[in-house]
Order: sequence, then C-alpha cells, then structure tokens
Amino acid sequence: MKLGLLAHFFSDPVAGAEGVPAAGAAPALPQRTLRAKGILALLAMVIYVAVFALYVAHGRQVLDHIVTQQEQILDRQRALIKVNAAVAHSVVELQFQLNRRPGVPAYGDIGLDFAAIEEGLPDLRQRFPEIVPNVARFVGDVSALNAAWSAGTLTALRNSAQELGSQLEQLEDGLGDRYHLLARQYHDAIQHTFIVWVVSSLVGILLFGTLVSMFFTRLSTDIKLLESRAVAIVGGYRGPPLEIARRDEVGGLMQAVNGMQAELRRWERQQEVSRQQRFHQEKMAAVGSLAAAVAHEVNNPIAAIVGIAQHLILTAGTSPWAGSAASRDEAELILTHAERIASIMRQVASLTARHSPQPELLDLNSLVEATCNFISYDKRFDGIELATELATDLPAVNAVADHLTQVLMNLLINAADSMEGVKGRTRRIDVSTAAAEGGMLLSVTDNGCGIGPAVLARVFDEFFTTKPVERGGGIGLYLCKSLIEQNDGRIALESTPDIGTTARCFVPSSYRHRAAA
Ligand SMILES: Nc1ncnc2c1ncn2[C@@H]1O[C@H](COP(=O)(O)OP(=O)(O)O)[C@@H](O)[C@H]1O
Ligand SMILES: [Mg+2]
Repeated sequence: MKLGLLAHFFSDPVAGAEGVPAAGAAPALPQRTLRAKGILALLAMVIYVAVFALYVAHGRQVLDHIVTQQEQILDRQRALIKVNAAVAHSVVELQFQLNRRPGVPAYGDIGLDFAAIEEGLPDLRQRFPEIVPNVARFVGDVSALNAAWSAGTLTALRNSAQELGSQLEQLEDGLGDRYHLLARQYHDAIQHTFIVWVVSSLVGILLFGTLVSMFFTRLSTDIKLLESRAVAIVGGYRGPPLEIARRDEVGGLMQAVNGMQAELRRWERQQEVSRQQRFHQEKMAAVGSLAAAVAHEVNNPIAAIVGIAQHLILTAGTSPWAGSAASRDEAELILTHAERIASIMRQVASLTARHSPQPELLDLNSLVEATCNFISYDKRFDGIELATELATDLPAVNAVADHLTQVLMNLLINAADSMEGVKGRTRRIDVSTAAAEGGMLLSVTDNGCGIGPAVLARVFDEFFTTKPVERGGGIGLYLCKSLIEQNDGRIALESTPDIGTTARCFVPSSYRHRAAA
C-alpha cells in the first residue's frame, strides 16, 4: 500500500501562497530643503527688484541730466538777453544820434549803455566763441567813436552794434530751440520710464504669482497623495511605490512612506512564512499522533498474525490435522508480509514521532535512510529509482532533526517533481552523504528536466515557483536555505537542462540551532 494520503501532508508547506513582487530599493535623495527653496525665491525677487530699481535710477539720471542742461540753457539765455537788450538799446540811441544835428551833444551825454555790454561780453565770449570777431569789431568801433565823434564813427558803431545784436538774437533762437528739444526729451523719458515701470511691475507680479501658485499647487497635490497613500497602506495597499519626483522634505517623506510600505510587506511575508512553518509542524505532529495510534492498533492483530504464521510453520507436516508441507510455504509468505507491515508501521512511527525542537546529536545516515524509506511510499515516487550512497565514516551531528528532515524532503519532492514528463531513461534519484572539511555533505541528484540559468538564478527566492499553484508555492528552497543558513550551513543547486540537477547541502559539525531573526 502506498501512503498517498501522506503525500498531501508532505507537500511544500505553502503551496498556493500568493507571490508578491519585491520592492525596488529606494534611491538616495540629495536634499534641497523647502527653506532653501524659499530663500532662493526671495533672492530671485530681491534681484528682480534691484534690477528694476537700477533701471529707474538710470531713468532718473537721464531726467536730471536734461534738467541740468535746461538750466544751463536758461542761464545762457539770461546772459544773452541782458547783453542783447543793451546792444539793441545802443543801436536805437545811435540811430537817434545820427538823426539829430551833427556836432551836439557829445558822446558822454548820449545814453549808451556800454557798461552793461562790456560787463556781459567776457562771459558771452567764453560761452559763444563764434561772436568773438563781431565783439572785437564792436569794441574797436566804440574806441573809434571815443577817439573821434563823427557821423562816420557813429554809423560804423551803429552797424557793428546791429550785426552783434542780430548774431546774439540768432544765438538766442538756437538756445530756445534746444530748450524745446530738451523739454520734449524730458517728456519722452518720463513716459518711457512710466511704461517700463508699469510693464515690469505687471510681469513681475504675474511671474512671481504664477511660480508661487504652481509651487503651492504641487505641494498640496503631493501632500494629498501622501495622505491618501498612507491611508491606503493602513487599509492593506501593497502595490507599486510612490514615484518620487521631489528632492525636498516632501520627497523624503514619500521615500519614508515607500520604505514603510516595503518594510511592512517584508514583515508580512515573514509572518506568512512563519505561519506556514508552524502549520507544517502542526500537520506533522498530527500525522505523528495518527501514525502512532494506527501503529498501536495495527501491531496487535499483526502480532497475532505473526504468531499464527509461526505456529503454522513450526507444526506444518507434523500431524495429520496440521497443515501440509506446501502450506508451510504459504505460512512463510504470510509471515514475510506481516513482518513487512510491522516494519512499515515502525518507519511511520519513527519518522513522525515528535522530535525535540532543540539540537541533539544525530546520525545523519539514519535520518537520510528513514526519510528516503518513508518518502518512497509517496505516489510521486512511483517508477523512480531512489538510491542512497551513505559514507560510513560520518561523525554525529548536533542538529534539529526536524530541520534536516524538512530540508531533505523538500529536495526529494523537487527531484521527484522534475521527473514528471521525463521519457526515454530510467528515472533516478541518488542521495549521498560524505564527510567534508568541518562538517558533512548531503547531496540529492536527479536526472529530471533540469533548470535553465534564468530560473536557476531565482530558485531560492521566496514564493518563486514554475509549478501550477496546487503543486508549488515556491517556498520549499527558500525554507531549505533559511534553515541551513540559520545554522551556518550552505546550500547550492547545480543543473543542466534536460540532464538533471544536484542539490548540495553542507552541514557543519558544529551545527547549532539559532532562532530565526
Ligand atoms: N530538482 C529540480 N529540478 C528542476 N527544477 C527544480 C528542482 N528543484 C527546484 N526546481 C525549480 O525551483 C523552483 C522553486 O522550488 P521550490 O522553492 O521548492 O518551490 P516549488 O517546489 O513550490 O515550486 C521550482 O518551481 C522549480 O522550477
Ligand atoms: Mg519544492
């Protein structure tokens, strides 16, 4: 009889557990703080205002310059008007003198205002060099009149005064034109400065306002996103993490929330593995109790059958009412099979008996033998040759028996699973033990389908499986690795596709049980 029912109990502990993708490692964020962003914005504003103030100051300078020029023009005009008025007055007076009887009165009596002209001329000569020849002529004519009072000198002086006067008038007109030009420039400059002021203020307000509103809109969106993600995580969300596009405190907060989610998921998976492990142990304990009870119940009738068979063998052919010699062979057959049943019951009882959860000195070979014997009744091992090659020089190992049994069973079940669909060769699993430096080596080799490099790289990952959900949960090798490594051992898989796979476990002789972290 094959123990098909037990196959269920020895299947991988978490068959059907849901696979969850691992979270990506969070990138380190270079810190750009909100405070720094605020200072940057303030700095930009100060620079903008400073540039604007510089521009306004420059406009003011231009206006100042225009006003100064206008003041200078007014000064010159004033001087010109003063001299010109005196010259015009002199011309009128000279004409008047010319129109009177000759000979009277003398020069000193006529009202010529030469003093006012002489007083203003040096300043005018300096400011308007072009009047120098006319001034020289006028001064010369004045001297000539002083020297000889005559109609000729009077006429000459009148003419030179007239010419000087008209030149001064022309200059006055020129200054007037220039004054009007400056007044227009002043007006234009004021208008230009005003327009620039209005436009830059509007652009500044618009730019700054847009930036500030964009900043706060994004900030509030991100904070809302964080809030809803935190609520979702509490509600069980374990999907893709938040995308972090910020490098400030809010970005840091997002990273922390992502980290919290990843940590929570890792913790939950750990809990799930521990739960499955406990469940597996409880199943094993239940099987153990059942097996012990069945063994006890079966042993009594078996003992009776063995006794009867032995009696039949002993008495066969000894009396007419005893069995014939031929029936002795049949009795021996009954005895053989009854003893076989008794041996199976012993194996079931010994393998499923409760073991200490603490490390104890164990004989690795007997553990391997018992496990192989027992598992060969599993229907998955139908048609598979299960061979053992056990080293005779193995020292005792200080280990938790359940751990090593669980590791070996997982490796054997994986080996048997890999045979499914293999045709054209004898299906074979070789289990061997050997002494190695500092410990011993346990190997399980199959000639199954083998594993390609891409799958081989992931076989020890938690929840990684290539089997249908009812056959594998992808936790068998993960558990083997954590059980072996918890105790400073090592496990590795070598495989060639279509040729087979070898799993090797190194168990140190100083194997000591450490509780999982
Ligand atoms: N001996 C083997 N031969 C072929 N493939 C194997 C073998 N052992 C493990 N694997 C591969 O490794 C995967 C993970 O194994 P395991 O962790 O025991 O999970 P499960 O058996 O539940 O799939 C298997 O799905 C299978 O693809
Ligand atoms: Mg497995």
